[in-house]
Amino acid sequence: MRESATCDLRPVTCLHLGAAYYPEHWPEERWPEDIRLMREAGLTVARLAEFAWSTLEPAEGDFHLDWLDRAISALASASIATVLGTPTAAPPAWLVEQHPDLLAVDESGRHVQFGNRCHYCVNSPQFHAATRRIVGAMVERFGSNPHVIGWQLDNEYNRVCYCDRCRSLFQRYLAEKFGSLDALNAHWTTRYWSQTYSAWEQIPIPIGLHNPGLMLEFKRFVTESYRQFQRLQLDVLRPHLRPLLLVGGAGGGVWVTHNFMGWFDGFDHYALTEDLDLASWDWYVGTGHHDYLSSGAAHDLTRGFKRRNFWLMETQPGSVNWSAINNMLNKGEARAMAWQAVAHGADAVLYWQWRSALGGQEQYHGTLVDPSGQPRPFYEEAQQLGRDFAAVSSLLANSAVVSEVALLNSYDSRWAIQWQRHHRDFDYVAHFNHYYRPLAARNIAADVISADTPLDNYKLVIAPALLMLNESRAARLRDFVARGGHLVLTIRCGMKDDYNALLPSRQPGPLVDLAGVEIVEYYALLDPVPVAGEWFTGTSRLWAERLRVLDETGTQVIARYGESNGWLNGHPAVTVHPHGQGRVVFVGAYLDEVSQQSLLDRITSAAGVQPVMETPVGVEARRRVTAAGEEVFIAINHERAEQLMRLPWPAREHLSGQSVGEELRLAPYGVAVLTRLA
Ligand code: GAL
Repeated sequence: MRESATCDLRPVTCLHLGAAYYPEHWPEERWPEDIRLMREAGLTVARLAEFAWSTLEPAEGDFHLDWLDRAISALASASIATVLGTPTAAPPAWLVEQHPDLLAVDESGRHVQFGNRCHYCVNSPQFHAATRRIVGAMVERFGSNPHVIGWQLDNEYNRVCYCDRCRSLFQRYLAEKFGSLDALNAHWTTRYWSQTYSAWEQIPIPIGLHNPGLMLEFKRFVTESYRQFQRLQLDVLRPHLRPLLLVGGAGGGVWVTHNFMGWFDGFDHYALTEDLDLASWDWYVGTGHHDYLSSGAAHDLTRGFKRRNFWLMETQPGSVNWSAINNMLNKGEARAMAWQAVAHGADAVLYWQWRSALGGQEQYHGTLVDPSGQPRPFYEEAQQLGRDFAAVSSLLANSAVVSEVALLNSYDSRWAIQWQRHHRDFDYVAHFNHYYRPLAARNIAADVISADTPLDNYKLVIAPALLMLNESRAARLRDFVARGGHLVLTIRCGMKDDYNALLPSRQPGPLVDLAGVEIVEYYALLDPVPVAGEWFTGTSRLWAERLRVLDETGTQVIARYGESNGWLNGHPAVTVHPHGQGRVVFVGAYLDEVSQQSLLDRITSAAGVQPVMETPVGVEARRRVTAAGEEVFIAINHERAEQLMRLPWPAREHLSGQSVGEELRLAPYGVAVLTRLA
């Protein structure tokens, strides 16, 4: 049996490998074989029960929990810990029959159909009562079970409900927020198109495009609705759970999480994760292959929710069932992906799912074990990971990613831009990654954090399309630069207030003095326009902003537009302005990739930001630093060909247990976990 002493059931002290396991799909006589195979694959955790409501409570108040107890014990006897899901994403048929009204209503006013998932209205009191009952029963039984190390609430919140109850609650939310209709009407400029409201009851839920202020508040209301639903579950759970003691990264107790979906934008993830102990996410590639320069950003985003390590709660065991072409990842690619997650701060990687269910909507999804109960070819890759994780679990215990760069993310800016793209191809996340990728290509670690977070300890802060720039955000950025920080402001920065109204000033609004420039016009582009300067000669695509220098002596013009639409010709496109101890780069262009790389290379070098290590193209190097200060380097070859890289020092490679000189050979999709020798 695998030694599990170091995997002592804590959230941040161990590297877990696991899978979603649904023992309720199978006769109990089969469980020992599943568990044997899990152990042989090196699994240390299983995620149970997340959709098992109809098995756990087949009729109101009739709880059948013994089977789950037996499953948890059987897993524990093989040193496999359990994460329990609350099954609320799958309200059962009897409950829906009892309370048809708990079904969510879609945009066209129809109740959604029973039989898929997340079919509930998140604000339904009947659903809330049923949730309290099932979660209460589960936690009374399993809350103190030492083998249950954490809980996952629901599954991938995503539904938006348009029912009359939600509409009334939305109106009440607005009344509380704005205090008076006069205030609401003023913030939303409702005189426009005669939208003036004279009673709260007149305010609709936006369907499709609507008043930008109304749309923004509805997103906040959806966020608040899920937050309340989540709190309701937390309030039931927490009194029964051993409290967490997260001092200096050391844990104990039982954590609660939810499995988010990376860049999904249905609600403000910072608000929701505030109430959770741990952030986790589900990572799927779908059709095609993994692009490591962008996928690192989604890990960093999830790490940034709580600004500490996270779990990869689901990922694909080679293939999925729901994409256009459900191709299998190349042999070794999923292992490289798992290692990328760890390199970016994941303390666990769990596959979805263990074995193909014989029926149900996901029959063809990738699994570790096929419908016959035998391991699929992919099982071997998981087994390799099991060996990997066992080899370095204690080495990576209590280690974290340390970054000198932060990229600021804001859901309100993102929503507002997505609703009014102005150029159909302008995508907030793509633009965000346009700044992330050149850093990733140089192995420069970055935190992706909320634009409302303190900025201590960073050398460089990048604010991609930070459209909404209120005073507190502006003050934090001002202070950061005054203390010597390097700040990058980009196109679409500083245009709007907290209500999604345009600021009555030129971009970048409250940061004009800091930037030393103002934007006199923005242009959606039909064709790329030339941009050239000392650092690069290239083009701007999709978008261009015409900058006007305000501080003639201080501002350095880095690049200007060439001949294009006449309005841009010869005007500044990129500027640098010193301010206090620091400096501000304003990037008015959406540069081609080569120019963007040159720009970011200049910016990072001026800010004194260090790459983790130099690697050949296609090899990623990351670093986790333990509480004791030991640096652990992870090198991942994301290519199908062998790669040779030079190490700055001789090292110990912990997956093979070998010492390596200054030359490291990485097999296709190969991984090395290194510590410096001497
Ligand atoms: C996730 C979901 C899982 C499973 C998986 C399939 O979104 O949480 O339950 O359906 O997709 O890829």
